[in-house]
Amino acid sequence: MVITGASGGIGRATALAFAREGARVALLARNRPRLEALASEIRTNDHREGLILAADVCSPVEIQKGIEQVMDRYSRIDYLINGAGVIFFNPFLELSLEELQAMMSVNYFGTATCIRAVLPVMLRQRSGHIVNIASTAGRRGFPMETGYCASKFAVVGLSEALRMELNGTGVGISLLCPGIVDTPMSRDFLSLPGIREEIRPISADRIAFRILDMVAEKRVESILPFSTKLVIRLNSMAPRLADWIIRKRVNRIAALISKSAAQP
Ligand SMILES: NC(=O)c1ccc[n+]([C@@H]2O[C@H](COP(=O)([O-])OP(=O)(O)OC[C@H]3O[C@@H](n4cnc5c(N)ncnc54)[C@H](OP(=O)(O)O)[C@@H]3O)[C@@H](O)[C@H]2O)c1
Repeated sequence: MVITGASGGIGRATALAFAREGARVALLARNRPRLEALASEIRTNDHREGLILAADVCSPVEIQKGIEQVMDRYSRIDYLINGAGVIFFNPFLELSLEELQAMMSVNYFGTATCIRAVLPVMLRQRSGHIVNIASTAGRRGFPMETGYCASKFAVVGLSEALRMELNGTGVGISLLCPGIVDTPMSRDFLSLPGIREEIRPISADRIAFRILDMVAEKRVESILPFSTKLVIRLNSMAPRLADWIIRKRVNRIAALISKSAAQP
C-alpha cells in the first residue's frame, strides 16, 4: 500500500495502523528523516518493512518513479491513501496567489497525480482501493479557509466522479472528510488559549481506525465529527441557517484569537 503525507499526523497514524494489520507500507512525503524514523518504528513494533519514498506529490516524475519502486519491491498495490496536504488560513484577500496555488497544487493536483500513477496498476490487478482525505471544508465553506476549501471541494468532486467511472472495475474509492484533527497541521490553531474548550479535535489514531474501517467495508464516504456532519447535511437544505451556526462558532473563536493577540 502507498500512504502519502506519511511524515505528518494522519499519515503516520494510518501507516502504523495498517502495519499493525500486517500491511506492507510505502511511506511517501518529502521529509526523508521523518519517514526513516517512522519506518524504524514500524520495524520495531510490527517487524514489517516500510518502504521510504521521499517525493513531492506536485512532481509527476517523482511520483511515477516512487510507484515503480513500490512495484519493483511488492509487485502490487492494494491501497492508496492520499493524505498529503497543506493549509494557509487567512481572509481571502490576505492569502497570496502563491498560497492559493500551493493549496491547489498539493491538495488537489497532488491527489490527482498519485491516483494517475497508481490507478493503472490497480486496474490491471482488477482490484484496489483508494482513500482520498478531503475535509469537512470540502463539503462546506468555512471563513479564513477559502483556498483550502476550494482545493478540498476539488478533491470531493474528483472522488465522486471517479467513483462512478470505476464502477465494475474492481477498484473502489472512499472519501474521508474529517473536521479538526490533532496533528501538526492544526497545532498553532489548537494551541490558542481556551480553544480546546471550544473545539474537541479528533485524534489522528481515530482517523486511522476510520480509514481501516472504510477500506474493510468499502465505504463511499465518511464525515466526522457527527455535529459537523449534521451542519453539512443542513447546509444542502438551509444554507443560511448553516451560515448562522458556523458564524456563531467562528465568532467565539475570533474572540479567543483577539484575546490571545492582545496578551503581551
Ligand atoms: N489536521 C486537520 O485538522 C485536518 C482536518 C481535515 C483534513 N485534513 C487533511 O488530512 C491530511 C493530512 O493532514 P495532517 O493533519 O496529517 O497534516 P500534517 O501533519 O501537516 O501532514 C501533512 C503531510 O502532507 C505532506 N506533504 C505536504 N506537502 C507535500 C508535498 N508537496 N509532497 C508530498 N507530501 C507533502 C507532509 O510531508 P512533508 O512536509 O514531509 O512533505 C505531511 O506528511 C491533509 O490532506 C489535510 O488537509 C487535516
